[in-house]
Amino acid sequence: MLRVENTQRAAAIAVALGAFTALVGCRGQESELPPVHLNHNMDTQEKGKAYRADTTGLFADGRAMRLPVDGTLAQGQLVTDVHFDDGLDENGDPVKKFPDAVKVNGELTDAFRARGEQRYNIYCQPCHGLQLDGKGSVAANGADGKPRLQVAPPSFHDARLKTMPIGQMYKAIKYGVNEGNMGSYAAQIPVQDRWAIIAYVRQQQKAKDSTVEEEGGQVLVVAKVDTASAEHGQQLYAAKACVGCHSLDGSKLVGPTFKGLWGRKEKTSAGEVDVDVAYLTESIKAPNAKIVEGYPPVMPMIPLSDLEIESLILYIKTVQ
Ligand code: HEC
Ligand code: HEC
Repeated sequence: MLRVENTQRAAAIAVALGAFTALVGCRGQESELPPVHLNHNMDTQEKGKAYRADTTGLFADGRAMRLPVDGTLAQGQLVTDVHFDDGLDENGDPVKKFPDAVKVNGELTDAFRARGEQRYNIYCQPCHGLQLDGKGSVAANGADGKPRLQVAPPSFHDARLKTMPIGQMYKAIKYGVNEGNMGSYAAQIPVQDRWAIIAYVRQQQKAKDSTVEEEGGQVLVVAKVDTASAEHGQQLYAAKACVGCHSLDGSKLVGPTFKGLWGRKEKTSAGEVDVDVAYLTESIKAPNAKIVEGYPPVMPMIPLSDLEIESLILYIKTVQ
């Protein structure tokens, strides 16, 4: 009994549904005309939709999406604190002090550095290393025994990074380094956290070398001199960042070692040359004039006086 009743009820529902569909549903044929829509409510409106053509005729270029009006900014895009947002001072130079916005009562807090440590370990450690020594796993050699990165990440314990203004570190995070040798982390790391990472880096530099100041970094004193000398050159080698890229012990850093450089023959993009005063002067004054074979053309133009260059060359001569 029960089964018959169910079947009858199912049949009745099917008939009703069929009748309903025949009356109001699709009629099977295609039409170019817009569907009959008796009650419009607010379903169809003359409005611009993103990425669609403008159907209202309001805009001459026929696009529904508009550019911001000249001279206007979206919320959150206004930079009022260049120190905080760009790491630059009023002259456009990289800052040496942390922005007030990241301090509490004029001081950096331990919580802030701890946050920096955590962010460092997520974003920077794979290349720059847990010990900040540039020996992260990504920077290690691949299975073929060759370095995975063409340009090695520097150690934060190099004189160059210990003396680096924090505004320049900030720039490295925000924009990357040397056209992508290191990429920009602006998308992943918000402004506040970039400063937290730098605070952690400075703390770690100071832990290894007490002459590093948290804010100003390390200040290397180069004696004022009237005549060039190898001693003066040695101070410049540390103070002018050469130390970060040129070793003294024969090891290959970003650039060739200074060990035994003087007097040898060097294979360069302009053929084989003798390493003499003229070549060294040119290498320092115009780093891209001749590129040493096997090295990327990343040596920066470092502003130096003729006397300083003379001293540097006298020093390079002593590194045998
Ligand atoms: C994928 C590897 C990689 C990661 C991750 C990475 N770096 Fe680097 N970084 C490099 C390389 C390579 C260089 C050297 C680039 C050169 O000298 O051309 C570099 C250079 C730098 C420099 C020196 C900048 C200069 O002006 O010479 C700083 C500072 C720096 N990185 C900070 C950071 C910080 C902070 C993080 C984390 C937010 C980070 N890096 C993450 C690879 C990396
Ligand atoms: C960011 C890394 C970097 C820094 C900093 C740097 N150099 Fe270099 N340097 C290189 C690279 C890479 C080369 C090889 C490519 C080339 O010839 O430009 C090079 C090449 C040279 C050469 C030619 C070496 C040879 O084997 O023929 C000299 C000399 C030199 N640098 C001197 C200096 C001095 C002096 C300083 C500091 C005032 C300095 N460099 C700072 C990266 C650097």
